[in-house]
Amino acid sequence: MSAAIITPSGAGDRGQAGPGLQPGWGVSPERQQAVGELLGALVPPAGRVAPGQLRAVTAGLAARRGLWADLVVRDPDVRWYLPLHRSNSCDVWLLAWERGQDTDWHDHGGSSGSFAVAEGCLVERYRAPGGRRIARRRLLACEAVAFGPAHVHDVAHGGGGSATSIHAYSPPLMAMTYYDATEYGLIARETVAVDAPEGARGRGGAGTALAAASASAAKLTPDALPADAPSIDELLAEARGGLARLRPEAAFAVLTDGAVLVDIRPLEQRTAEGEVPGAIIIGRNVLEWRLDPRSEARIPALARADAQIIVMCSEGYASTLAAATLRRIGLREATDLDGGFQAWKAAGLPTRPTQPPS
Ligand SMILES: [Fe+2]
Repeated sequence: MSAAIITPSGAGDRGQAGPGLQPGWGVSPERQQAVGELLGALVPPAGRVAPGQLRAVTAGLAARRGLWADLVVRDPDVRWYLPLHRSNSCDVWLLAWERGQDTDWHDHGGSSGSFAVAEGCLVERYRAPGGRRIARRRLLACEAVAFGPAHVHDVAHGGGGSATSIHAYSPPLMAMTYYDATEYGLIARETVAVDAPEGARGRGGAGTALAAASASAAKLTPDALPADAPSIDELLAEARGGLARLRPEAAFAVLTDGAVLVDIRPLEQRTAEGEVPGAIIIGRNVLEWRLDPRSEARIPALARADAQIIVMCSEGYASTLAAATLRRIGLREATDLDGGFQAWKAAGLPTRPTQPPS
């Protein structure tokens, strides 16, 4: 990931040179270039972009899932957003909406705009032109609206599953005024400078933990790691060096001889894959506390130095690290299932659908 400030490729050639996206937002230069190329075909190279042209941008981007679908973050607590493009003439944003999330009443500081629903459903309430009447429209996927600089609206998740939308503004959003809905109509409450779309009830890009982590990772180079820190591959190889791992047939044989198969897969994985009859399910996050003979949270029947524990995960990677840790805390017979549940099932050994939790 580049940490450079990026202006979408070719923008300068079309006279759209602008500030570009700030670093750390998690949109790769290649993706910014692809978005910039799409915009280059739809909007004029400079100056104010008309609402209809902005609608072509939002609708066009909404239809190109490959440009944004993998970037979306679902946050149940606060509306999420990410800038996809910024030039001197317009900015474009990706927004994600969950049930109950909305924007509050606002205008766009004199910018024209458009938004297109890409997934799910949004409801827009807006001040009807020329009066105090409030209109309402429900927008489904592939539907887009455009508005001029006087538009005041409140956009909300429209029910059902998660929603995603693409928003564009021209000139780029700089300020917004918020309004209170009163019996006398919409009354301006405050005007604030903004660097985010659709109001303050959102958190996105650099404001999210994910983006902060992405920005931090962008600065990280292998040189920044301690010299003696093993890679995950080295850690795995080291762990396997101390284990007598068991293939499924061998594991099946020792299970009838007193060994215990411990399934550390999460519920979602067990539900999707199935389970092994008789396996003991212990979550990976509590494994050591359940099996350390000194732990108050131990399972007495299993937390023994001589317990023959065979740790199983889905494919036999996480189980190796777990088994190595069990050996470190004294379970000298602990090992793991080579190939995990997948290999067990492929060998034709007993499985069954996972029982839902009671
Ligand atoms: Fe808005």
